[in-house]
Amino acid sequence: MITVFKNIKELIQTREENINKVSGEEMNILPTIKNAFLVIENDRIINFGSMKNIPTITNATIVDCTGKMIFPSWCDSHTHIVYAGNREQEFVDRINGLTYEEIANRGGGILNSAKKLQETSEEELYKQSAKRLEEIILLGTGAVEIKSGYGLTLAAELKMLRVIKKLKENFGIPIKATFLGAHAFPAAYKTNEEGYIDVIINEMLPKVASENLAEFIDIFCESGYFTVKQTEKIIQAGKKHGLQPKIHVNQFTSIGGLEASVRNNALSVDHLEVMTLNDIAVLKGSNTMPVALPSCSYFLSIPYTPARKIIDTGLPLALATDYNPGSTPSGNMNFVVATACVKMKMTPEEAINAATINGAYAMNLSNEVGSITKGKKANFFITKEIPSYGFLPYSFGTNVIETVYVNGKNG
Ligand code: NIG
Ligand code: FE
Repeated sequence: MITVFKNIKELIQTREENINKVSGEEMNILPTIKNAFLVIENDRIINFGSMKNIPTITNATIVDCTGKMIFPSWCDSHTHIVYAGNREQEFVDRINGLTYEEIANRGGGILNSAKKLQETSEEELYKQSAKRLEEIILLGTGAVEIKSGYGLTLAAELKMLRVIKKLKENFGIPIKATFLGAHAFPAAYKTNEEGYIDVIINEMLPKVASENLAEFIDIFCESGYFTVKQTEKIIQAGKKHGLQPKIHVNQFTSIGGLEASVRNNALSVDHLEVMTLNDIAVLKGSNTMPVALPSCSYFLSIPYTPARKIIDTGLPLALATDYNPGSTPSGNMNFVVATACVKMKMTPEEAINAATINGAYAMNLSNEVGSITKGKKANFFITKEIPSYGFLPYSFGTNVIETVYVNGKNG
């Protein structure tokens, strides 16, 4: 089936030749075609260009986009959307003066979510998670990474990863699974950290790998969580099972986790709210994508990732939501793009590149999604009538998306 979208006010992120990512000054260049057409066949983009050159196609469905723009879907490379219940009470506790750290230290935080998840059936967990996935697809997300890490026992981690697998089977968008058994130490291992690391390496990892439940491995490398040494040990164990590292580093402190991740060829390093000059220097010359999560900074009132320093040094940057029950109960990439502009001083061009092609890179999906390119998946959204693409981040909090296409289909 062929569909032709015509009279598109502006077709965003058009790349004749596919690229993997954009870095430094190039991030400020967002290729677009004004007054454009787009042709899709089944689930693929097969042609696009200026209306002047629109081909005659018989038997095609025509969609008139007068006044509206088309963006490639957002690529959200960092989420934890498989979780049970919520942590609204901790949100109120923080309003009343407790810190995120204090809440975690008294058994709240990740351990609170783990307890809820362990008590929730796989069916119920699937139901709650599928609802979140439906919600983010309607907000324009067309590819997503999802982590485990709220199980913290072999059975519960496997339950999470099987839910992710089921989501993959039942939803059309590309979904990548990450094993994050090293998210926090369970209470039973508080004084026996090596014991839990042993469980991760010798019990969880072999099972995750043999059932093919994850492509990436993640560790929360942070003061009070996993040390750099422990992180590196788990990364290397993951690599032996073919899992590529994507690591939580530098959220609250810079302790050397970024350098260890880059040394081990991590696909991405995520959070980066606290960055030293050395951290930035280490990223130069590497293939590791730095990923910023501005909704997390917003929700926890912690510093924003220094995007200007990162981009102005010539590095790439990706943007993702971090959708999770504790630090970021929101999966809205439109808000992420707006917040990156408002709080991190990224231009709309930089933010859109970061949320599309660079997000795709951070999931190994640059060949499939992230731009309007022939052969790529027909995952995109049509906006309402808007005056310019910069209007999307400008009108933060307003949903400018009218229709979402996944695999060439809407609805
Ligand atoms: O990315 N920082 C580590 N993990 C999650 C949040 C964990 C939680 O509070 O549930 C994050 O922010
Ligand atoms: Fe996270």
